[in-house]
Amino acid sequence: MSHPYVIVSAPVPEDLRTSIEANFNIVDVPVGKRLEDALDSDRLQEIAGIVCTVRTKLDEGVMASMPKLRVISNFAVGFDNVDVAAANARNILVCNTPRVLDSAVADLVFGMIIILGRDMLNGDTYVRDGTWASKGAPALTRDIRGKTLGLLGMGRIGRVVAKTAKAFDMNVIYHNRNRCSDAESEGLAEYRDREALLAEADFLSIHVPLTDATRNSIGERELKIMKSSAYLINTSRGAVVDEQALVEALKSGEIAGAGLDVMVKEPLPAESPLCSMRNVVLQAHVGSGTVETRRAMIDLATRNLIDALTNKQPEAMVNP
Ligand code: DGY
Repeated sequence: MSHPYVIVSAPVPEDLRTSIEANFNIVDVPVGKRLEDALDSDRLQEIAGIVCTVRTKLDEGVMASMPKLRVISNFAVGFDNVDVAAANARNILVCNTPRVLDSAVADLVFGMIIILGRDMLNGDTYVRDGTWASKGAPALTRDIRGKTLGLLGMGRIGRVVAKTAKAFDMNVIYHNRNRCSDAESEGLAEYRDREALLAEADFLSIHVPLTDATRNSIGERELKIMKSSAYLINTSRGAVVDEQALVEALKSGEIAGAGLDVMVKEPLPAESPLCSMRNVVLQAHVGSGTVETRRAMIDLATRNLIDALTNKQPEAMVNP
């Protein structure tokens, strides 16, 4: 009997491909390509598992074209690319890669806090374009120490960001759907209601998943509540923020700047007004983008796939 078929639409290295190939036939699909466009319906009907990035959309329609599908193993902690309710209805397991990327994302958040807080983008230009030589020392910036970091969302990544902030002697406050008494009793962060969080934060860092409830949840109203000296940092999903409202708030000085690793449309078009703003630090959705972290993620995603298809409990499941 031939081995079951699995789609690989993620950067799975050779050694892990070999471990998949021991029991399964791999069907390669280029990262981000729609499965319906890449494969004919006979092939789709044979698929038992998928390992993919968040660029693969898995909705009810595409799931229906794969009646043998048992597992979707996302090479990401986020899973807003998957219709989990549709997967539940079809008894399809959805797996992800939590924990292994927490520190890498927290490092990126801190990189942005320091670059923004110390105005390092302008500082770099000041040296390179000769302004330092012609005008002397640049304007002073402000300490990071003693400032207030507001965390919107207090999951695993939020906690690592909070710990890092403590090492910088920052005050850390958070808002989360449910209060996190463990984080509070460990002294990691104090709880605030949403409005107080927005009003008090010098740096507001977003750590919520993209859902119907969080889409555009930081918009004109929220940006107006923030201090004009505050910075917004987003390493979660672009669509949590109303990007048009953010551009307006940055232009009008309602907030001081932003650090964005994620955008509504990725890759961010070069014509976006964000690209020409000197108070905005942009990254190309690379929160988890280190060699070590991506390896740990693909290890976990591959294990999740193989375990689910060999009737073992995968390490990281989103459902049922
Ligand atoms: C994640 O793991 O969710 C990252 O944002 C990659 O998409």
